Amino acid sequence: MPRTVLITGANGEIGHGLVTMLADLAPTRIVALDLHQPDALVQSRCHRVVVGDISDLALLENLAATYDFDVVYHLAALLSTKSERQPRLANRVNVDGTLNLLEMTINQAREQEREIKFIYPSSIAVYGLPDLATKHSAGKVREDDWCEPRTMYGINKLYCERLGRYYEQFYRQLDARVSGGRLDFRSLRFPGLISAVTTPTGGTSDFAPEMLHAAARRSPYACFVRADTRIPFMAMPDAVKALLDLESATGERLTRKVYNVGSFNPSAGEFADRVKEAFPHASISFAPDLKRQSIVDSWPVDVDDSAARQDWGWSPNFDFTRAFDEYLVPAVSRRYRAARGD
Ligand code: SER
Repeated sequence: MPRTVLITGANGEIGHGLVTMLADLAPTRIVALDLHQPDALVQSRCHRVVVGDISDLALLENLAATYDFDVVYHLAALLSTKSERQPRLANRVNVDGTLNLLEMTINQAREQEREIKFIYPSSIAVYGLPDLATKHSAGKVREDDWCEPRTMYGINKLYCERLGRYYEQFYRQLDARVSGGRLDFRSLRFPGLISAVTTPTGGTSDFAPEMLHAAARRSPYACFVRADTRIPFMAMPDAVKALLDLESATGERLTRKVYNVGSFNPSAGEFADRVKEAFPHASISFAPDLKRQSIVDSWPVDVDDSAARQDWGWSPNFDFTRAFDEYLVPAVSRRYRAARGD
């Protein structure tokens, strides 16, 4: 029997890559859930596509009644800039939505007395460094340091990491009967992600992908953070690889519920230089938006991902050079050449 995997937010940036890579692996029945009709590529790879809202309890109940899930990848979320603009909506989607998925999963696990994995992408937004001097002296942050998020998104993510741990280890701990079912919660804290095939919406690390896509589209770009701004980034294929690697890791080897994963951390200026090398006519200027800048300034310059490396062998395929040379530039050039009909 192929395993059955539920992916929420399947039409989002990570969802696209995950659906494609999962479909290429061992036979898998992918059930995709998204607010919007996923594009043709995603649809062609899925067993079933459901257009709907993770707030819709009847819809989730119906899904759980129809499918026996082996793994849930809960990717649906409102990113940090959008969450700042609509904090209550962010809480509804990012927190209540996650709670609904955790409930659906644990109920199915307990009813069927089996284990279901719950894979949850968290973010560097859970960190909050108080000022630039501290950010630079802190260097690579470890998972348990500086968890003082300043954004609604970061607060939502940090809380949901803890909810996940609760659902795995302490759910209904006062019940007289101990259920044989179990939710196996595993989470990653992603840096800013850069995809060549999709552009993000509503994030605060979006300046890097926006800069790249604007250059390939031959549009001018005004970067909303200072050139010296530094946070960690990752190429999308590595983000998908990290999710799949963590999912397939042997449970006994995992010493944490939540892992940092990193790849490279250029400053916005270094990123712009590399974009200009690939697209010499790119027009990139810096026009910092002080409010979005202060959010990025509260995020670390880099993450310490030694626990992920040690416990489940995390190792990105793409450093900064390889990400540009072997993934971003070729794929993004192809994409806009095709769009222009060159
Ligand atoms: N990319 C996210 C955002 O900008 C942070 O993880 O919101």
